[in-house]
Order: sequence, then C-alpha cells, then structure tokens
Amino acid sequence: MRDGRRVLVTGGAGFIGLNLIAYLLATDPDLSVVSVDILKYGWQQASLARAAFPSRHTFVQADILNQGAMTQILKDHHINLVFHLAAETHVDRSIHSPEEFVQTNVVGTLRILEAFRSVYGERREEMRFCHVSTDEVFGTLGQDAPAFDEETCYAPRSPYAASKAGADHLARAYQVTYDLPILVTNCSNNYGPFQYPEKLIPLMIFNALAGKPLPVYGDGKQKRDWLHVGDHCAGLWLAATRGLPGETHLFGGGEETENLTLVGMLCRLLDEMRPRDDGGSYAGLIYHVADRPGHDRRYAVDSSKARRDLGWAPQMGLEEGLRETVGWYLNAGDWLVAIAADGGFQDWLATNYGGREATA
Ligand code: NAD
Ligand code: DAU
Repeated sequence: MRDGRRVLVTGGAGFIGLNLIAYLLATDPDLSVVSVDILKYGWQQASLARAAFPSRHTFVQADILNQGAMTQILKDHHINLVFHLAAETHVDRSIHSPEEFVQTNVVGTLRILEAFRSVYGERREEMRFCHVSTDEVFGTLGQDAPAFDEETCYAPRSPYAASKAGADHLARAYQVTYDLPILVTNCSNNYGPFQYPEKLIPLMIFNALAGKPLPVYGDGKQKRDWLHVGDHCAGLWLAATRGLPGETHLFGGGEETENLTLVGMLCRLLDEMRPRDDGGSYAGLIYHVADRPGHDRRYAVDSSKARRDLGWAPQMGLEEGLRETVGWYLNAGDWLVAIAADGGFQDWLATNYGGREATA
C-alpha cells in the first residue's frame, strides 16, 4: 500500500474504535481517519468528546445498515483502508435480544462489504478491508485443549458469537468470490480505556467505586486470554499494512486468567489506588450470581502466526495493563457520571442483574 492512507473506522465511537483511531493518528502523520458510528447509547457522545481527536479525524453519525451512506462515505473521502469494527458486542445482550445481533453483525457486514465492492476498482492496488472479529467464533476450549489458531474450526455458542461467525464467513466469501483485498483478524478479550461498563473489567471498577456488589457469574473459574487494547490496535495496523488479502491473523495476550482471579487483581489495585473509607477490601463486595446461559468455559489464543509473519507481540503485561486501566477509570469521573446518569445503562443493569439470584 502507498502512503497517504485515508482510513474508515466503523464503530468508531466504541471501545476499540476510539483506541484504534488514536493509535492510527499517532502512528502515521500522513494518515487521516473518518469514523462512523450509529451512537445508539448516550455514553458514546461522552466518549467522543473525551477522546478529543485532532483535525485529521472526521466523525460521521451513520448506520452501517445504510449501504448508500456507506458507499458515499467511501467515495467522498477517497477511503483506501477500512477497519470494520461496528457491531453489537455484548454476549449477555445477545442472549436477551439476538435479532439485533444478526441485523447489525451479519446484515450490517454484508452492507459494508457491498459498499466496498461497489467502489473497489480504480485504486485496487492500494485498497484494503480489515474485518475485525473475535476468538468467540471458535467456541469453548476444554481445560487442556490446545489454544485456538488460524486452522481451528468455527463452533460459536452464543448469538453474539454466531453472528460474528456469519460476518466472518461473508468477509472471506467476498474476498474469494469477488477477489477483494479483505483480511480477517480474530482477537481475544480486550481491556483498557473507554470500555463501557457492561463488560467485566469496567463493570467491576464502576461498581466497586460506587460501593456496589461485584457480580461474578457461576463459580468464576471461566478463563479468558486478556489483551490490552493498544496491543490489539498495533496488531490490526500490522495486519492491514503487512498482511495479504485472504489471510487471517489471531491476536491474544497469552495471559489466560480465571475471572475470579482477575476480579481479585482489580480489587487489590483499587485497595492500593483508591482505599475504601471503611479500610476494608473491595474483595468483600464480590458475590456469585447465576451463571450466563451457555457460558464458554475457556478461551486461549495461539498468536504464533502474527508473531512470525507480522512481527507482532504484546507489549503490555496484564498486571501493568490493569494498573494503567484502573488509573484511567479513576481519572474518568465525568465520563462515569455520564454513564451512571444514562437511563439506558440503568435499564440494562436492571434487565441483566435484577432477577439474577445470588449463589454460593
Ligand atoms: P463496542 O460495543 O464498544 O463498540 C462497537 C461500536 O459499534 C459501538 O460504538 C456501536 O455504537 C457501533 N455500532 C453498533 N451498531 C452499529 C451500526 N448499525 N452502525 C454503526 N455503528 C454501529 O465494542 P468493541 O469492544 O469496541 O468491539 C469492536 C469490534 O471488535 C467488534 O466487532 C467486536 O466483535 C470486536 N472484538 C472485540 C473484542 C473485545 O474484547 N472487546 C475482542 C475481539 C474482537
Ligand atoms: O473474547 C473476545 C470477546 O470478549 C469479544 O468478542 C466480546 O465483544 C467481549 O464482550 C468479550 O466477551 P466476554 O463475554 O468474554 O466478555 P465479558 O466482559 O462480558 O465477560 C468476561 C467474563 O466475565 C465472562 O466469562 C463472563 C464473566 N462476567 C461478565 C460480566 C459482565 C461475570 O462473571 N460477571 C459479569 O457481570
């Protein structure tokens, strides 16, 4: 690809989108970014305001399901690199409202692929489309099973994972059928700044700071392979600029951790960085609740290919990354206040945790 990249980031007001835009602008001074997001939830406005990107970034509020709008953005801004992140992303929400996930993740991906196909032509040699996906498409791993790699068969087990799997299949089919320069990435659990507190790590910090219980699903022994969002963004950039059309790369932190252990690490950091008024530990707020239906027990990712072919390696260890993340949330009071005041967020907490009985 040549210099002067003009990038489109879909889902640009989301957690990874915001971090990716900052990473891209800092990495290449000749690059400009257009981001699109539907801005479904009130908190995303607060996130965009807080991110305060420089003038090389333009935000457009738009729905990826609107193929005409996507095509116009690709044309008007002479986009030559797309990072497609827009999606419904929370497994628990997918259990409550699966249809929205199929619409956004499957049909929405179809529409953005069609828009890309319609403008692909004159600038073929310099164009790329990076479809950003998840390790959840591979399903769950047994305790001693080898980690997922690029050859692992898809076996999604939640509506979210199934809808992402459908999107991945479409992206790969478009690459082959229409000979489009599309790459796919599958990443493990991300954490870091701007993650919305419906996901485990920010929810635990959010509740702890409010003195509220920390709900751990089931026995808390499920394992996730945590990766700092900055390392994911670095991987996406390398995949888009060094990878070849049709390739897949997996990214993971190589730091498999049980949920209960992770929540304990967060509590210890909070005890140190924001001690409780009563002198007790935040760990006293942990309680077990009914498990997530179909809860995947273990994810682990083998990133050997990305390490070998892209020269990628995670730079941030889990302990250091969690410390940085807790510090970011402690300094993001106004952002958290905006979220707490969001009726939609409070409704979600009531929906997901309201009737959930405590266990053990
Ligand atoms: P997020 O929920 O924070 O952000 C997703 C963004 O997409 C939101 O801002 C949302 O408004 C936007 N969006 C949803 N529907 C849209 C539509 N119809 N049109 C335009 N925008 C729309 O999620 P995230 O964690 O930033 O995830 C981004 C991508 O990365 C997703 O595709 C996800 O599957 C993938 N991923 C996430 C992780 C993770 O751990 N967070 C790991 C691997 C892959
Ligand atoms: O693996 C990548 C995926 O990671 C991404 O594709 C998803 O978009 C992202 O949401 C994430 O999915 P998880 O379901 O693993 O993340 P979540 O933060 O929701 O949960 C992490 C673990 O913590 C999981 O085992 C469920 C558990 N959990 C979660 C919540 C919200 C709890 O025990 N209590 C909770 O309240």
